[in-house]
Amino acid sequence: MIYADYNGSAPLHPQVATYLKQRIDKGPYANPNAIHSLGQKMLMGFEKCREICAKALGADSTQIIFTSGASEGISQVFHSVLTPFSQKKNIIISSNIEHSAIGHAWEYYSAMGYEIVLLDTKASGVIDIENFKNTLSAHQGKIALVNIMAANNETGVIQPFSELAKLCSAETIPYFSDTTQLIGKSSFHFEESNIDYAVLSGHKLGALPGVGILIAKDPLSLKPIIFGGGQENGHRGGTQNYIGAETLAVALTSVLSEEEQTQLKITKDLKENFEKNIKKRFPNTVIIGEDVDRLPTTTLISYPGIHGQAVQIELESEDIFVTTSSACSDNEPETSKVLSAMDINDDIGRGVIRISMDTKSDQDSYLKLEEALIQAYSKLEKIKSY
Ligand SMILES: Cc1ncc(COP(=O)(O)O)c(C=O)c1O
Repeated sequence: MIYADYNGSAPLHPQVATYLKQRIDKGPYANPNAIHSLGQKMLMGFEKCREICAKALGADSTQIIFTSGASEGISQVFHSVLTPFSQKKNIIISSNIEHSAIGHAWEYYSAMGYEIVLLDTKASGVIDIENFKNTLSAHQGKIALVNIMAANNETGVIQPFSELAKLCSAETIPYFSDTTQLIGKSSFHFEESNIDYAVLSGHKLGALPGVGILIAKDPLSLKPIIFGGGQENGHRGGTQNYIGAETLAVALTSVLSEEEQTQLKITKDLKENFEKNIKKRFPNTVIIGEDVDRLPTTTLISYPGIHGQAVQIELESEDIFVTTSSACSDNEPETSKVLSAMDINDDIGRGVIRISMDTKSDQDSYLKLEEALIQAYSKLEKIKSY
């Protein structure tokens, strides 16, 4: 079996699995807010996890807020920056390549009165900096929030997030970047990035699902969306998901270790070789974002005229699991919004499959994938499906 949907969700990282097995048997279990010694021990362990995650992410531990995942972090950033509604600063600048978790936030805040200005990307999938600068100056003094993601979940294309953040910082505009896909697969240092708010989801990194992090440059700017008992310094109530946080600390430490970062470079080479071989065999295939900086584990490939879902089914019959774009829009047989923002036509757009591999992939996996994809394309090109 080859699981190639890591951008959707990663299986438990082997180090996390090992950790959890002994953790479940040994305990301890207690409420970290209890004043008895077991509770205090839990709290100390939980705070240690915060320190580990902060160090791995280039942030101060006071800037780390444990959440249930990226969607919660996104909701909290929007809520913190955009309530109450301000008539004076009523513009949100974002892009047409954001994840649907952000798209649904726009719907809510536009009903509140905000105007959402959405940028397309260049054909490469990268935000056009000149267009970005012009948009900032066209709305000077009226911008409440800028949010442009760091790496796209469908294409893997990496955005110039630090540069965009710097431009916003110069105008004291809050800049939020959805870093869910970037962290662990490309270098990231919160403090150096100039970003005001960033988010991540544990299950994208091999930690347990149901835990995530919101990083805030100024945590005092946050407003809670869960009041609870004042946990997380009042930023996020509810008894802490301490086991989730432990798995996140283990996952981040492992993924960012020197050993795994070396493996990631190997994965990048294997991926590039795989793409080159497929293109050599089928010169009309298109690799989205081919010429720009992408996540080392993501390939979004299309054979124009062959439907992505047909390819997906062929691969699944070989026990290889890919998606046609993002997991959330997998049953929409249309060109995705992300690809439309790159001005990609339907012939290419409906043909894509997303292959998102483990950061520690080996040659054998890529060879099997290559063989199966060659077989699928060879079969399907004889009976082009639309
Ligand atoms: C870029 C991006 N942002 C946000 C999310 C939402 O993450 P979660 O569903 O874990 O909250 C995802 C998940 O696919 C994503 O890829």
